Amino acid sequence: MIVLGIETSCDETAAAIVADDRRILAEVVRSQVDQHAPWGGVVPEVAARAHLDVLDGLIARVMAVSSLAFADLDGIAVTGGPGLIGGVIVGVMTAKAIAAAAERPFIAVNHLEAHALTARLTDGVAFPYLLLLVSGGHCQLLIVDGVGRYRRLGTTIDDALGEAFDKVAKLLGLGYPGGPALERVARSGDPRRFDLPRPMRGRPDCHFSFSGLKTAVRQIVDTWPGGSLGAPDIADLAASFQTAAADAVADRTRRAIAMFRGVHADGDTLVVAGGVAANGELRARLAALAAAEGMRLIAPPLALCTDNAAMIAWAGIERLRLGLTDALDFAPRPRWPLDPSAPAAAFAGVKA
Ligand code: KG4
Ligand code: ZN
Repeated sequence: MIVLGIETSCDETAAAIVADDRRILAEVVRSQVDQHAPWGGVVPEVAARAHLDVLDGLIARVMAVSSLAFADLDGIAVTGGPGLIGGVIVGVMTAKAIAAAAERPFIAVNHLEAHALTARLTDGVAFPYLLLLVSGGHCQLLIVDGVGRYRRLGTTIDDALGEAFDKVAKLLGLGYPGGPALERVARSGDPRRFDLPRPMRGRPDCHFSFSGLKTAVRQIVDTWPGGSLGAPDIADLAASFQTAAADAVADRTRRAIAMFRGVHADGDTLVVAGGVAANGELRARLAALAAAEGMRLIAPPLALCTDNAAMIAWAGIERLRLGLTDALDFAPRPRWPLDPSAPAAAFAGVKA
C-alpha cells in the first residue's frame, strides 16, 4: 500500500510518499519561516498564499523522486484540520482534485492523530501507549488505544508548551521561531540562576498551565536593573525557563503514567510527539522519568517531530487499512479534538 500525504495546516508546506512497510519513499518540507519572521509569528493569509504557491511543485517532486504516477497510489491523505483554515483548504482542495482525477481514495487526516501515530511509523509501536503531544497549538496527555481511539487525560488551561517557548523567546529578543532559538541560547546558560515557578506541580489531575511561568519571566525582564539584559543573563533566563518547563511537564506526565496504568496495568510505552518533542532538555527529562517508572520512551527523529507530510501519509495508511476513507464533500475543520468526549477540565478557558 502506497499513500501520498499532504500537510498545509500551519507554516510548513509538505508532501511525502510512504509505503505500508514503513518506508518513506520521498519527502519534502518547505518552511515559510522567512515569510512570517518580519511579523514575529504566523500570519494566516500569508501562510495560505504561500502554500498555494509551492504545493503543486512539491507534490510533483515527490512523485518524480519515487517514480510513481498518481494511478499507482492507494490513497491521497491530507491534513483536514485542525489548523489555520486557509492553509487547510489549500491542501484539502489539492488532495481532492488528485483523488478525483486519478480515481483514488481520499483520506482526511486529523493533524493531531498524525502526530500521535508517528511512533508507529518510526518505531512500529503497538497499541496501547501513553502519548504526550506537545506542539505550538497543543499540549495534551492521551491514552492511545487504537486508530481513532483516544482518551484525553490532561490538557492545557492556557498556553500550549510550544506557544510558551515562542512567547518567552520573543520576550528575550531571540526572534522567531522561538523554541529552537531558545534551546540554542539555553545551552550556554545556568538553569539554576533564576528560581521560576513549576506550574500545577503536585496536582492530582494532569492538566498543564504555562502562562504563570511566562509572566514570571516577563517580570524579571521588565524589572531588570538598568533596563536591558546582557547575553549571559538571557542565556541563564532561557536555561532557567527551559528547565522549569521541562520539570512541569515531567511532573504532569508522572501523574498521567499513574492514570494510564490504572487503565492498562502492564502499559509500558510513553511516546512524545509534536514540535516541542525536538527539545533535548525535555527529551532528557522524559527519558529519566520513563526509566524511573519502568516505561520505555519513544521519541521520533527530530524531522518527524515537527510538522511534515510523512506522518500524514502514514496516518492515511493506518486509516485505509481499516477501510476508513472520506467522501469528496469533506469540509475542512479549524477545530478537531482527538477525544470529543473529554470532559471539560475543571477551570474556565480550557482549550480542547
Ligand atoms: O508540531 P509543530 O511543528 O507545529 C504545530 O504546532 O502543529 O510545533 C511547532 C512548535 C513551535 O512552537 C516551536 O517553537 C516548537 O514547536 N519547537 C520547539 C523546538 N523545536 C520546535 N520548542 C522547544 N525546543 C525546540 N527545539
Ligand atoms: Zn503539528
